[in-house]
Amino acid sequence: MADKKKIVVVGSLNMDAVINVENIPRAGETVMGSDVEKVPGGKGANQAYAAGKLGGNVTMLGVVGDDEDGKTLVDSLRQEAGVETQWILRDSDAGTGTAYIYVQSDGNNCIVVSPGANHRCDLKYVKEQEKQLRECDILLTQFEIPMETVAYALKTAKKMGNQIILNPAPAPGILTPELLKYVDILTPNETELEIITGRKWDAGLEDLEQMCKLLLDKGVGCVIVTLGEEGCFLAGKEFKHFPAYKAEAVDTTAAGDTFSGALAVMLAEKKTMEEAIEFAMKASAITVQRKGAQLSIPDRTEVEQYG
Ligand code: RIB
Repeated sequence: MADKKKIVVVGSLNMDAVINVENIPRAGETVMGSDVEKVPGGKGANQAYAAGKLGGNVTMLGVVGDDEDGKTLVDSLRQEAGVETQWILRDSDAGTGTAYIYVQSDGNNCIVVSPGANHRCDLKYVKEQEKQLRECDILLTQFEIPMETVAYALKTAKKMGNQIILNPAPAPGILTPELLKYVDILTPNETELEIITGRKWDAGLEDLEQMCKLLLDKGVGCVIVTLGEEGCFLAGKEFKHFPAYKAEAVDTTAAGDTFSGALAVMLAEKKTMEEAIEFAMKASAITVQRKGAQLSIPDRTEVEQYG
């Protein structure tokens, strides 16, 4: 691992409580669902898991409770994906974060996160991890932990010239240049793009390009918008649409996480952006065809043989 570029993921770890339903209920509606299944998840942990399983040299920073779910999440990252977990804090004052996920029959989902110990991934904790942030080559982070933690991590890693990938999920609102100026690669989906730009997407690639330009003007290096079965759109020095690989979706949970994790691994291996995007799209096409967050994330061989 020593010769491999180091990817540090700062983010959330959640135990996912998953219920399959025919259709996601509307407000005020009650529906019957399947038994509850517990699956390791959390956007941060999923991205670290994906990057590790796909061959990256990955360290995870985050906080779990000192409980059974926390232990399962840390073990899953270390044993199944080879992620360095020694810096993950086990906090006895908070329970491990939980995500309640409804997956409907077409594979789409809706998620509510009860953050628990992820709230403890605060400034004090992240400052204690300064060495990890300074010594990484690529920093990958999201917004399921406090905003000030994300801002500090970006700033610290960027000061050392490290590459920054920000997956703006869940989207916190319009993102400002104060934060975006640290970001080399931003990976929103179309809904997150609308929230962080404060603009509705009128459909069509030209409009998408205009929305991405708003972010480029605020200092982001490049934007990759993930568009589900429409593939993805790269906006940076060039603008390019990448069509999706064929996939019968059964559960889209962690598809975006797989994409960001896979992208980080490819960039760590000095692949071109186009090669990295193709690989990441294949990886997430496999993820949507399986159920569960980390359970659905493929290994390197599967991705290389896909499509
Ligand atoms: O991106 C999918 C993840 O979002 C789930 O695993 C869940 O934990 C929520 O954080």
